[in-house]
Amino acid sequence: MNTKKVYIETYGCQMNVADTEVVLSVLDKAGYTPTTILDDADLAFMNTCAIRENAEEKVWNRLNHWKGLKRRKPEMVMGLLGCMAEHLRKDLLQSKDNIIDLVVGPDEYRKLPALVEATRDSGESGIAVKLSRTETYDDILPFRAEGISAFISVMRGCDKFCTFCVVPFTRGRERSRTLASIADECMQLEQQGFKEITLLGQNVNSYLDEGKDFSDLLAACAKAVPNIRIRYTTSHPQDFDQKLTDTMQNYANICKYIHLPLQSGSDRILKLMNRTYTRKHYMSIIEMIKKSMPEAALSTDIIVGFCSETLEDHLQTMEVMREVEYEGAYMFNYSPRPNTKAFDTLPDDVPLVEKTRRLNQIINMQNKIAEQKNLMEIGSEHTVLVEGRSKKNESEWKGRTDSNKMVIFPRIDAEVGEYRRVKILRSNSATLFGELIDVKESKHISRTSQDRGEVIYDLTPLVISSVSEHEHSGVDQPAAMLPIISSVF
Ligand code: SAH
Ligand code: SF4
Ligand code: F3S
Repeated sequence: MNTKKVYIETYGCQMNVADTEVVLSVLDKAGYTPTTILDDADLAFMNTCAIRENAEEKVWNRLNHWKGLKRRKPEMVMGLLGCMAEHLRKDLLQSKDNIIDLVVGPDEYRKLPALVEATRDSGESGIAVKLSRTETYDDILPFRAEGISAFISVMRGCDKFCTFCVVPFTRGRERSRTLASIADECMQLEQQGFKEITLLGQNVNSYLDEGKDFSDLLAACAKAVPNIRIRYTTSHPQDFDQKLTDTMQNYANICKYIHLPLQSGSDRILKLMNRTYTRKHYMSIIEMIKKSMPEAALSTDIIVGFCSETLEDHLQTMEVMREVEYEGAYMFNYSPRPNTKAFDTLPDDVPLVEKTRRLNQIINMQNKIAEQKNLMEIGSEHTVLVEGRSKKNESEWKGRTDSNKMVIFPRIDAEVGEYRRVKILRSNSATLFGELIDVKESKHISRTSQDRGEVIYDLTPLVISSVSEHEHSGVDQPAAMLPIISSVF
């Protein structure tokens, strides 16, 4: 039996949530059991993010809290994992009053047990931050808490080198896991009772395994687990093609939801960002999606106030947002990141007050668009995966539609993990509110003819009582590769 305990706080994107599960699996084999109580741990990690300055600030603030604990419990090994570890490397060991014993980057997690032992034996701090061209942890089955939604990293790294982005430096070159092992993992997850799987990669359209591309992978997963939902994120507009929309159309259990980051609507800014597409090309993809999959929901990422962005550039971004009418958008002020090309070569010349003004402007506009789109949902019917109790009101359930919209409905006659039919009665810009319209007694519920009725969702209830709301926070987020989340294992 494992007697030593490991505690991990996870920051950043879903990729980090998935990596934490890999780390727990590696440490499980070395005799560590996960704990959610920091004070009880023998080993404590933060799995960190470096995407924007405030992501790193969060970790620095949290380390101040850990300082007192280290004083009380000096034998506890404390470490930083993930993108900030890779970004700042040994600078981390020299800071924060020597409370950090280990700094380990995303491609070095197999070494963790040995590094922890060495640190314990010698009292010296350890660092492992080499990036690999081949590591995918393909053979490691992640240590997952019970739940209804699971993430699978299908590829690691990114070769796009957008000039603002730190990810190619923190995660290294692109490499894909094998299709066979991913499809196998989907089947195992179904057996464990998971009801939704999100395939993850910074740029899933670059997935490649012996000639099989991402559409082939998506089809293989959809076929492997026809009774559960498959989502994916993130697509890069440059590589998005019709084969992918055709594949999404061909399988009822692939969610009709596409996250397609725009970043800016100005060709001049897109060029400075090295996004490798123009506004025209981006719009041609949107048109193709809307034509071939009119029911698809679209979301995006926008950066405002990138180097040299003028009001005219900003207005162009707003124009595209108005034209596309995204269901949702993640919007950020540009944050210069050391090591990136923009940091080294382009002045961060839009003042913070102006960045914030532009940000508020697009947030307000997007909220109105989302409000309008959600108003149009009133009267519609959706298959919703019941995720758990609503945080705001214990007497209500929350769940998501195929299109990734949050739906709240009265907590009667349903179980977590069920797919249920809900009719939408009212809405606001962020949420739909509805009522159950299917009958509990029926063993199965098929989706509407619009969903082509090919898939029968099993109604077998799945209870996730052992997973707390907090632990679950990673999957509360919409499937997009971005929000700063933190979750504790
Ligand atoms: N691989 C995904 C995005 C990963 S990062 C893609 O290319 O779409 C998630 C989002 O964070 C990005 O889409 C971008 O909008 C934002 N982001 C990345 N670097 C940033 C920076 N330096 N400042 C502000 N936002 C940034
Ligand atoms: Fe890669 Fe996305 Fe970062 Fe661009 S924004 S470098 S595609 S992770
Ligand atoms: Fe890394 Fe994800 Fe943040 S890849 S930098 S943890 S957004």
